[in-house]
Amino acid sequence: MSKFQIFISIILAFCSVAASQPIITRNTTVKCPLDFSIIRQFTEGFRPSEPVSDQCLLIVQGIRLVQSDYLRRTNSFLPPSSSSESCWNDYQNLINQSSNSFDIRTTCGFQTQWIAQGCENITTRSEYENINSNATLNGVLQACNQSLHSGEACATCTTSLSALLPSDVQGVRVGNVSDCTAFKSIYAAAFANLDGPANRDTAQRLFALPLDSSKSNKKHRNTLIAVFSLLVFASFVIAFVGFWWMWRKKREKKKTKGILDSNLSHLDSIGGNNALIKFSYSEVEKATKNFSLSNIIGRGGYGNVYKGVLPDRTEVALKRFKNCSAAGDASFAHEVRIIASVRHVNLVALRGYCIAMTKSEGHQRIIVCDLVKNGSLHDHLFGPAEKKLSWPIRQKIALGTARGLAYLHNGAQPSIIHRDIKAGNILLDEDFEPKVADFGLAKIAPEGVSHMSTHVAGTMGYVAPEYALYGKLTERSDVYSFGIVLLELVSGKKALLKHGDDQHTLLADWAWSLVKVGRPLDIVEEGTPELGPPEIMEKYVMLAVLCSHPQLYARPTMDQVVKILDSNEPVPVIPERPNSFTANVFGTETPISSTGSNSMSSYSTY
Ligand SMILES: *[C@@H]1O[C@H](CO)[C@@H](O)[C@H](O)[C@H]1NC(C)=O
Ligand SMILES: *[C@@H]1O[C@H](CO)[C@@H](O)[C@H](O)[C@H]1NC(C)=O
Ligand SMILES: *[C@@H]1O[C@H](CO)[C@@H](O)[C@H](O)[C@H]1NC(C)=O
Ligand SMILES: *[C@@H]1O[C@H](CO)[C@@H](O)[C@H](O)[C@H]1NC(C)=O
Ligand SMILES: *[C@@H]1O[C@H](CO)[C@@H](O)[C@H](O)[C@H]1NC(C)=O
Ligand SMILES: *[C@@H]1O[C@H](CO)[C@@H](O)[C@H](O)[C@H]1NC(C)=O
Repeated sequence: MSKFQIFISIILAFCSVAASQPIITRNTTVKCPLDFSIIRQFTEGFRPSEPVSDQCLLIVQGIRLVQSDYLRRTNSFLPPSSSSESCWNDYQNLINQSSNSFDIRTTCGFQTQWIAQGCENITTRSEYENINSNATLNGVLQACNQSLHSGEACATCTTSLSALLPSDVQGVRVGNVSDCTAFKSIYAAAFANLDGPANRDTAQRLFALPLDSSKSNKKHRNTLIAVFSLLVFASFVIAFVGFWWMWRKKREKKKTKGILDSNLSHLDSIGGNNALIKFSYSEVEKATKNFSLSNIIGRGGYGNVYKGVLPDRTEVALKRFKNCSAAGDASFAHEVRIIASVRHVNLVALRGYCIAMTKSEGHQRIIVCDLVKNGSLHDHLFGPAEKKLSWPIRQKIALGTARGLAYLHNGAQPSIIHRDIKAGNILLDEDFEPKVADFGLAKIAPEGVSHMSTHVAGTMGYVAPEYALYGKLTERSDVYSFGIVLLELVSGKKALLKHGDDQHTLLADWAWSLVKVGRPLDIVEEGTPELGPPEIMEKYVMLAVLCSHPQLYARPTMDQVVKILDSNEPVPVIPERPNSFTANVFGTETPISSTGSNSMSSYSTY
């Protein structure tokens, strides 16, 4: 909370007249077993300036957190219904102690019994565990038994929760305080997370409660500010009240426009012919049949991808991001606009986006792209494909992908680094024209998710060493990943070669070992239909090895790659590689030797 906001709330406290409450006799003889004190650390974040719907969502999230703590202590999700009244009173008491108090139930329209109602007829831990397989529960345990401080950990955990039953896709979305979606987080925080629901990171990540960063020095600061406020109060109150009204009005206007759902879609013109559609949440729900499980066409660290049909019958892909961070809607919209301004035949086109706030599921961010129907390159290379890709099709995919990337790097303004080039992100249309997907999304996805999966080795397969080790990110990191994809495309082998249980070799190392002894054609996949001329196939292999060179200075630019693939231009000589990934990644002085004829002695000088 900023000084300014504290100041405003103090002034408000002076100005507001306590609303008189009707006197209702409420049954408080049964003590509430929930412990609301654990959300005390968050209630200052329930800001008076928030719109009511946001405020009420926070109230609901607070209840879920408290229920999670209760579940952990008693193995029961819900308090007995006879205690509903006292539970609301306990909560109200806590809210009354914060700087912004309001009557929860009348403001938000919560019915008293809701606090004791939940997902279907499940009330105990064992009932919940009985309807979920041991594999699912173990998956949740593995993904969530870690600190949820980092966005990556959070996304890993929340992704695993989507496997829990009962699946909520058709379920109650409003009304009940703890529906089946909520039960997933309540369960995970209670039993799968090592820190438990009272932990600040867990509470923030799984229940979207706002962190109050200035907790420690708050008292001191509040005193200072209160004294300051009193001094200036008399002279400035009128000016400030006027200012506050203007500020609030502006803010509300912005909020309603940016976040709250409306039933109309707006056309955001971003210049030229490109119109980016801002979809409403209800339009997105309709297109995906309420995010039906049968519409899921992909899963990732950031969330699920759904197939959808727009009212004009066009088919689209909708990517729904995990709501690990409630902040940053404005930058999300900004990034989406930049991505939408990039159009190329080899890039998946973005049609629009949706930002919404829902009661049951919190912040929602969804992007809507053209549907590319023929699956990904990964499916074709490693899936249960009926027949292998022919050499001419492989050439077409290599060239198209290179053109798409070259456009991102050099044609787009500002230039875009993809950061997550892999076979799964190269989509193919009916004519096997490749379309690069997910560009620019690395910035939108929860921090770190797109390139760092939980399988660090798998990451190393595609991520350039200087990026993986030192976080140095340039266009040449994309070139490295492109080189790996090109190797996969030519060899039909995965970026990480598995042998034995825990033994892996990088495809790039394996390819280099063959090139080094003059056998580049051994890399080409056996049984590839319609093989090309050997010198062309060798050129592809050499280019792939050059692009996946561990030292970034050695890699060509994507423009050079396109030129080499598209003309008679030869592949430059491949510089010698250090034999360890960690050695000399940034080195600029390395012996240059001709390809295919290096002896082991020059290789082992490192
Ligand atoms: C309050 O609820 C308890 C338990 O349901 C019940 O025994 C008691 O009679 C109720 N008291 C009033 C005043 O309604
Ligand atoms: C909370 O404060 C309101 C007045 O703002 C009062 O009417 C109500 O009784 C209080 N509730 C509790 C539980 O203290
Ligand atoms: C909930 O009730 C339904 C039918 O009413 C039943 O099929 C289901 O098994 C019950 N679930 C649990 C966890 O008891
Ligand atoms: C799941 O785990 C529990 C306890 O660990 C065990 O009793 C049960 O048999 C397991 N169920 C299956 C289907 O493996
Ligand atoms: C979670 O991990 C901690 C240590 O990392 C371990 O002590 C604890 O037993 C684990 N929790 C569960 C439920 O397995
Ligand atoms: C809440 O859930 C109960 C079942 O647990 C159901 O009967 C009730 O209709 C639901 N309330 C709302 C408002 O959906």
